[in-house]
Amino acid sequence: MSINFDELYNRKNTNSLKWDLFKERYKAQYNLTDVDDILPMWVADMDFAIPQVITEAIKERLNHPIFGYSYVSDSCKQSIQNWFKRKHDWDIDAKSILFHQGVVPAMATIIETFSNPGDKICISTPVYPAFFSIPRAQKREVVTCDLIAKDNGYEYDFVALEETFKNDVKIYVLCNPHNPGGVVWSKEDVETIVQLCIKYDVLLISDEIHADIVFDGYKHIPSLTVKDADKAKIVTCIAPTKTFNIAGIHAAMMVAPNSDLRNKLIQNLQAHGLGELNLLAAAAVQAAYDKGDEWLEALTQYVSKNMDYVIEELNKLDGITVTKPNATYLLWIDYRKTGLSESEMMHRLLEKGKLALEPGSKYEEAGRGFLRINVACPFEIVKDGVERFKLSLS
Ligand SMILES: Cc1ncc(COP(=O)(O)O)c(C=O)c1O
Repeated sequence: MSINFDELYNRKNTNSLKWDLFKERYKAQYNLTDVDDILPMWVADMDFAIPQVITEAIKERLNHPIFGYSYVSDSCKQSIQNWFKRKHDWDIDAKSILFHQGVVPAMATIIETFSNPGDKICISTPVYPAFFSIPRAQKREVVTCDLIAKDNGYEYDFVALEETFKNDVKIYVLCNPHNPGGVVWSKEDVETIVQLCIKYDVLLISDEIHADIVFDGYKHIPSLTVKDADKAKIVTCIAPTKTFNIAGIHAAMMVAPNSDLRNKLIQNLQAHGLGELNLLAAAAVQAAYDKGDEWLEALTQYVSKNMDYVIEELNKLDGITVTKPNATYLLWIDYRKTGLSESEMMHRLLEKGKLALEPGSKYEEAGRGFLRINVACPFEIVKDGVERFKLSLS
């Protein structure tokens, strides 16, 4: 298989959120006049071609000229089971797998199924924005419990989390591994969260979309594999979309081994006419999980090198601290020591450096003082991004 992560693709004018739509968004938000030359390193998709094995599987399906109603085959489910066993030592029962259009829609379905307007949904911040925007849009009360920022990532404050749970929390949404911090939570962390959920009768949504891009020395711990997981109410969300850069394909799975929870989810999916994958998505999912190992291995190495370069270069700058995450292709840049406000930093980046990153407050207040940069792109773009970052601060 030929894999060339150095190859540059022009994604402009492809209806890309990252390369096209961002212009209007940033223009409006930061009152910019000229956005044409801005380099986007923000939203979490990659500038790499997807594994050829996935493209081939989609093409093969396209060879048949009829696209009637379809269902996800048992062999596709088997491919999902095999991947999670092989990569994460996790036995998933085929009947516990439910399909959805994405992890965010799945999260919305789970919250809608197991809570009512006004109920408390707990999240640990900073965290991926859908964790608070979805429950708020459903008129749930979002209660945040900040993670503790450490030199090399984040830690849980379990005393604070327990205090929060005591206050009638219905659902806790866990980001495992963590976006934006890139932390792979340890077995002890995940076990503690599961125990707290059991003790306070809190339903756990475990978002494990970032499980596959994990660096040497770390191991993703699926929430459903830890001690007493069978006694807890857990629904885990998984997907091949981050791993293989196929977010536009729209596919995700909810894993619900608890039959009571699963039946309620099925009822809700049926109430909205949901629960299947389109036939091209099913082909992509199966090919990714059957044949994506080699590509993922090469990708992880490439991203890891990109990270090492960016970390080395940015740490030379006054007031900037970046450490290597355990997982993901996202770096979380701490600029608190520069003394710049978020608005000053974003204007410098966008107007002087011509670089679009994610401002930390997008991940809730706890993220203020940080920036998220996506380094899943050819090294040439990474180098360009680093130069633009330096220029912004000069
Ligand atoms: C933690 C997390 N969950 C979910 C998503 C998006 O999932 P989907 O595209 O399947 O809705 C992302 C995307 O960045 C993410 O970081």
